[in-house]
Amino acid sequence: MQQNTNDWALITGASSPIGQQVAMHLGGLGYSLALLGFRHREAMDDLCTTLSNRNIRFATKQISLNTQASLDQVITWLDGLSIKPGVIAWLAASGVMRPVKELNMHHLGWTFQVSAFSLAIITARLAPRKLIVISSTGATRVVENYGALGAAKSALETMLRYLAVELAPNTSVFGIRAGLVETSAAHRLPDFDTLRTSVLSRTPMGRLVTPADIAKLVGLLASEDLEMLTGSILDLDGGLRLVL
Ligand SMILES: NC(=O)c1ccc[n+]([C@@H]2O[C@H](COP(=O)([O-])OP(=O)(O)OC[C@H]3O[C@@H](n4cnc5c(N)ncnc54)[C@H](OP(=O)(O)O)[C@@H]3O)[C@@H](O)[C@H]2O)c1
Repeated sequence: MQQNTNDWALITGASSPIGQQVAMHLGGLGYSLALLGFRHREAMDDLCTTLSNRNIRFATKQISLNTQASLDQVITWLDGLSIKPGVIAWLAASGVMRPVKELNMHHLGWTFQVSAFSLAIITARLAPRKLIVISSTGATRVVENYGALGAAKSALETMLRYLAVELAPNTSVFGIRAGLVETSAAHRLPDFDTLRTSVLSRTPMGRLVTPADIAKLVGLLASEDLEMLTGSILDLDGGLRLVL
């Protein structure tokens, strides 16, 4: 499915393990990559080395997507490089993993700004041909200590539907609601091992979702002509949602 295109893909959360897989996959399909990360510069550096070795064109920026000013900086950065992304893959997320009763307005504000609100501002400004948003099972199901991010992911999914309507017919909008992926961020969930065992034992496909599973689906949604699927969110969970 090599695209051989001059198309740029903007990837937020590119420094995450899942974002890195998405970047390598889209790069392999022929996309040039505009990569956004925040704190983990080393992870981004490693990704850049891999992309360079594969002759994939890229540009990177480290920035926190939590203020209007920083979002404006992203647009200015892209304009300065004459990059008009045809595809946006949205993976940026940050949240405080605690029970709801331990959350304050700062925790919730930060989580929603980074994980949901920024998508609305950037996508509406850039109006790409395709928007692919990574949500999680916690948007619709209750996962212990995941209240802040779960609620922000629900907001993200709602925003996705509004964008699908408001930006049609020029933009097709898709969501991927992924199940548990064993990343360092997931390991920060209190009692991760219990969650992992429970998810594994109930998942019909008998394994956890991997970054490669997500990257493959992002690649498919980016490459294929699927405009009539706009506004849909695909459950990528090995069938876990089907089981009581
Ligand atoms: N792991 C799972 O079980 C799972 C399941 C379903 C969906 N997902 C989703 O997949 C995506 C990646 O998840 P992950 O597990 O690989 O987690 P992660 O490492 O925590 O990924 C979060 C990404 O968002 C970036 N980020 C954090 N704060 C930011 C900020 N203020 N401004 C801009 N970017 C910021 C991080 O950049 P830095 O690292 O550079 O700071 C990182 O690239 C997330 O959207 C997550 O919700 C994960």
